[in-house]
Amino acid sequence: MNVLQPFQLGDLTLSNRIVMAPLTRSRAGTKRIPNATMAEYDAQRSSAGLIVSEATTISEQANGWLESPGIYTDAMETGWRDVTAAVHARGGRIFLQLWHMCRASHSGFHGGRPPVAASPVKRNGESIPTPTGKQPSETPRALETQEIPGVVADYARATVRAKVAGFDGVEIHAATVLDRFGLAYLHS
Ligand SMILES: Cc1cc2nc3c(=O)[nH]c(=O)nc-3n(C[C@H](O)[C@H](O)[C@H](O)COP(=O)(O)O)c2cc1C
Repeated sequence: MNVLQPFQLGDLTLSNRIVMAPLTRSRAGTKRIPNATMAEYDAQRSSAGLIVSEATTISEQANGWLESPGIYTDAMETGWRDVTAAVHARGGRIFLQLWHMCRASHSGFHGGRPPVAASPVKRNGESIPTPTGKQPSETPRALETQEIPGVVADYARATVRAKVAGFDGVEIHAATVLDRFGLAYLHS
């Protein structure tokens, strides 16, 4: 096996077996809209068989990182369309990584309301860069059971937007979400 040989990923043919890991770049500005700099960055790396985009929030509630991009407004979807077009023009393939920051977020991103997670469990000893500077981690508000389908719907909407924006697939960022929400919900 040669890493430079094509790879069949479902119905997608990758030109080689090299996958670029998702890398948050914090270049989307305060409105979190993908832009020409981001398109150039990904296009420059499109000789990889597959690019996994930087983590991209699925809703306002999911935010928790300064100037990371989102995929929950029309302007975001349009911005991403330019990114995927730039990658495809060079023969690359790109998946969108979907992100909900859960307890790794901070009230500074949510008008003073605590971040939400499945359990009210604070992260251990980590501080978080917020719009008002570095702040200690906070105890999140536990989502009510009846709120969880709303988060699942946000993932579904983000996935539809990703498809419209020209992505070849999506990946779910699991570091801050799956251990807490439970895979069953996301696959239902
Ligand atoms: C600057 C930077 C940004 C990253 N952003 C993301 C991200 O958005 N999503 C993600 O899942 N992992 C992210 N990671 C983790 C990397 O994708 C990768 O998994 C990690 O660096 C381990 O790979 P390595 O051992 O080759 O460095 C990031 C890592 C770095 C250094």
